[in-house]
Amino acid sequence: MMKKSRMVVAVCFGVAVPVFLSACAATSAAPAPATPATPVAAVKGTQMPPKVVVSYRKDVAPMLEKYCAECHSAKAGAPTLKEFDLNKKHFEKEKLGPRNDTYETVMQLIAYPDAGAFMRRLDDGTSMYAGGKPGNMYKYLCEKGNDAECAANLKVLKAWLGEGAWNLNRFKARGDVPAITKGELDKLVLAY
Ligand code: HEC
Repeated sequence: MMKKSRMVVAVCFGVAVPVFLSACAATSAAPAPATPATPVAAVKGTQMPPKVVVSYRKDVAPMLEKYCAECHSAKAGAPTLKEFDLNKKHFEKEKLGPRNDTYETVMQLIAYPDAGAFMRRLDDGTSMYAGGKPGNMYKYLCEKGNDAECAANLKVLKAWLGEGAWNLNRFKARGDVPAITKGELDKLVLAY
């Protein structure tokens, strides 16, 4: 093995053994080949940056831990969603909301049974049915008053849900807000 690699190096620095020349050209700063490989994206006409997957573990859990845990975690004594529903007044007085400190508890607030609760509370007021007002938990998405950070964190959450999956619809229609459709649920990605 050693012998062989030494031989290739010797060839690269000069003394032409024609059969090795092309290999040398490819690894050194030689002029570009006549027909450069065309990147696939260019062929399709879409210059997309590489897709970065937003995940619960890497992006969402740390955000919720930082900004929501003091009122929504087991650590803080927060109830599960069903416990909360049974005794809302009590927990509201205690300034505790339903737990959102695990993937599963967050799912209950996104998909079922409380479809869209997460989105209604965290929306910046621009979604349909938001009535132009941010949800009452939106302000907690950042250090007090740091609007740019709140906006950036909302963007991460929207990307985590999935392209086009952020909507305020409920599981069952209520008032103006329609029931969520299977097509809308199908857009959820929610990588763990
Ligand atoms: C200072 C305490 C506090 C913080 C911080 C806080 N919340 Fe809340 N949250 C509450 C309380 C209390 C309720 C219940 C009262 C209400 O519905 O507004 C609630 C309700 C909610 C609900 C509605 C749950 C339901 O079933 O209707 C969601 C969703 C929510 N919060 C998400 C969040 C998220 C996400 C964060 C962090 C970005 C957060 N909250 C930060 C106190 C807090």
